[in-house]
Amino acid sequence: MGILYMEEEKLFKLDTPRTTYCIGLIDREGFLGHVYYGRKIENVQGASALMRVYEHPMTPETNARDRLSFLDNFPAEYSAHGVGDYRESSVRVRSALGHSAVLLTYESHEIYRGKESLAGLPATFGGENEVTTLSVTCRDRALGLRAVLSYSVFEDTDAIARSVRFFNDSDQPVFLEKAMSACLDMDDRDFDMITLHGSWARERRMDRRRVSHGKHAVSSLRGEPGHQEHPFLALLEHTATQTRGDVYGFSFVYSGNFRMQTEKNQFDSVRVTVGIEPEDFSWKLAPGESFQTPEAILVFSGEGLGGMSRAYHDLYRKHLIRSPYRNKKRPILINNWEATYFDFDEEKLLDIAREAAGLGIEMLVMDDGWFGNRFDDNRALGDWQVNEEKLKGGLKKLVDGVNALGMEFGIWFEPEMVSPDSNLYREHPDWAIAVPGRTPGLARNQYVLDISRREVRECILEQMFAVLHSANIKYVKWDMNRPLSDLGSAAAEADRQGELYHRYVLGMYEMQERLLAEFPELLLENCSGGGARFDPGMLYYSPQIWCSDDTDAIERLAIQEGTALVYPLSAMGAHVSVCPNHAVGRNTPFETRGFVALAGTFGYELDVTGLSKEDKAMVGRQTAMYHKFNDLVREGDYYRIASYGDNHLYDCFQVVSKDKKESLVFYVQVLGEPSRHSRILRLQGLCGDAIYHLYEADMQGEGRSIVKDTDREYSGQLLENGGIILERLWGDFRAKLIWLTQD
Ligand code: DGJ
Repeated sequence: MGILYMEEEKLFKLDTPRTTYCIGLIDREGFLGHVYYGRKIENVQGASALMRVYEHPMTPETNARDRLSFLDNFPAEYSAHGVGDYRESSVRVRSALGHSAVLLTYESHEIYRGKESLAGLPATFGGENEVTTLSVTCRDRALGLRAVLSYSVFEDTDAIARSVRFFNDSDQPVFLEKAMSACLDMDDRDFDMITLHGSWARERRMDRRRVSHGKHAVSSLRGEPGHQEHPFLALLEHTATQTRGDVYGFSFVYSGNFRMQTEKNQFDSVRVTVGIEPEDFSWKLAPGESFQTPEAILVFSGEGLGGMSRAYHDLYRKHLIRSPYRNKKRPILINNWEATYFDFDEEKLLDIAREAAGLGIEMLVMDDGWFGNRFDDNRALGDWQVNEEKLKGGLKKLVDGVNALGMEFGIWFEPEMVSPDSNLYREHPDWAIAVPGRTPGLARNQYVLDISRREVRECILEQMFAVLHSANIKYVKWDMNRPLSDLGSAAAEADRQGELYHRYVLGMYEMQERLLAEFPELLLENCSGGGARFDPGMLYYSPQIWCSDDTDAIERLAIQEGTALVYPLSAMGAHVSVCPNHAVGRNTPFETRGFVALAGTFGYELDVTGLSKEDKAMVGRQTAMYHKFNDLVREGDYYRIASYGDNHLYDCFQVVSKDKKESLVFYVQVLGEPSRHSRILRLQGLCGDAIYHLYEADMQGEGRSIVKDTDREYSGQLLENGGIILERLWGDFRAKLIWLTQD
């Protein structure tokens, strides 16, 4: 059993394979305090002392005259608001009388095997032998507000899932104005923090800095996580590296507004809070109603950042992604977006498919521009009927034609949006999110549909289902190309307008759930103008997410490194595209583009009919490479060896199979340099005693084998401690893929 309540000490002990988390209960007062989180401790007797409750001025029972000193210093498990803890609160209300204070104290607890799903929300899951849950019921008697704090620990992964459910047990409505999912108080241990930042086509760049006094937050008010900031935060010892040091990860399973924050206080303790962004959030709880927060996932690694990433990868692959594709090779797809943009018809698509089929590509995805009068991005969103001017003979004819070539077919939708120039908007202008009397702002010439409304969701799903039932469609790319603004729902009462951001996300989740219920075998790929909604919440619905609209192999090194800090390679949509690259104008070797895309889902985004003979030959070898290595990439352990972001010269990472029998080393020499030694890189994750034989990917060869035997063999110990030699490559942007195998 992963969770224990030690009655005498009033201590909850939560264990994962290599970590321990302890919560203390100050019985008479009912305060829940944070005691410990870190490396596994078998015997925690006496640990409650770590809460320092008997240190001046914190003794709660004997020091009632200084209650505020206690509350302002106590390491709270879920911080109060307005009663003397002046640090960041976890919850704030507006009561029927207009007050905001909340103080939740312990009432009871329950420990059970398994884990309940969270109504309407994506969440990690696991059976009775895989996960154990502690739920602690707390109450604010003055408000009649009950909160159940949930902690689930996994038997096979060093992760803890936390969430909170509120119940209004009073006979008056109460408004939740802030409802965080997790709060964690620890002493500062010379912590740095890492967060992920970016922009369109430049997503998830890592930013590492000292945790300093005051509050430092990343957040979103865009209605989605956004390109700019990301629902992830790591606290790590200043000296921690990829392989060493203590790291605490916080990831938020939610696809809307979030806030992840550190706060270092007067006594140098650090509070981390994770949850829905409180600004513009207000939720009316009528008597008897409840509110469920999304889930926060905490990971502790004593083995540096690499250990943290591997824990998240394992957790998300095993306990979050539900798709039937999660352990399966995905078809190699070719998407026509960068190949044609809006300028295509059925003949052009069939030309691409014909050529692609001969090169081993397995699916054609028809992107934006196939519906209504969508000849450019100024119109037709919301009118999901096939444009037969472009697709003469209709969708089924095209799909049958593609199938006849031995390829599957996929299609693009942007279900949450409406163009002002669309039949849908002309019929239902009030279905767009807007504030009465104020013309909402356009972005990409489109408005956001108010999918908090059932009739709006129904209308869009009905159109989508009709399209998807009309032909043999195996894949959907679900896009979302603008953030929310001008929040207002024509259907909501004034006192529920503050719920719109969250209800929008719930509406989107419900639509994806319905889509998958109707088409259980569908391969869904989420997308938001590239990677603006690449978050754990979306992984619950789609096993892969389009990583970025920047398909340049060199830009992708940083984007995919930041993404892989939290998410498995199997989730990262990555395609080979043409040069000069459409986002940056850079020319990179076709070979390098292939290796970088192989470290994700792998596919193409180019007009394969226009490729040179040499590039076509290489596509054939790349698709064979995908089949040879995708099991390893999809299911293996990820190790970061060197980062181009740090050294500005080269990038290197590795995947190792779970049984350590084989490994792939991805190496990209970004810039060539004159007069230098070869490079020695120390590998990780191997079996020390084993002997590994080295092969190199052979992309130029004529023969059937796509790897070249190097006739070199080394022990795992030598490769990890001595390293592997990588000779200098002639030119910039050159890459190597090395396969190590014990067989
Ligand atoms: C943004 C996506 O990221 C692209 O891949 C493409 O689907 C366009 N939208 C289409 O509008």
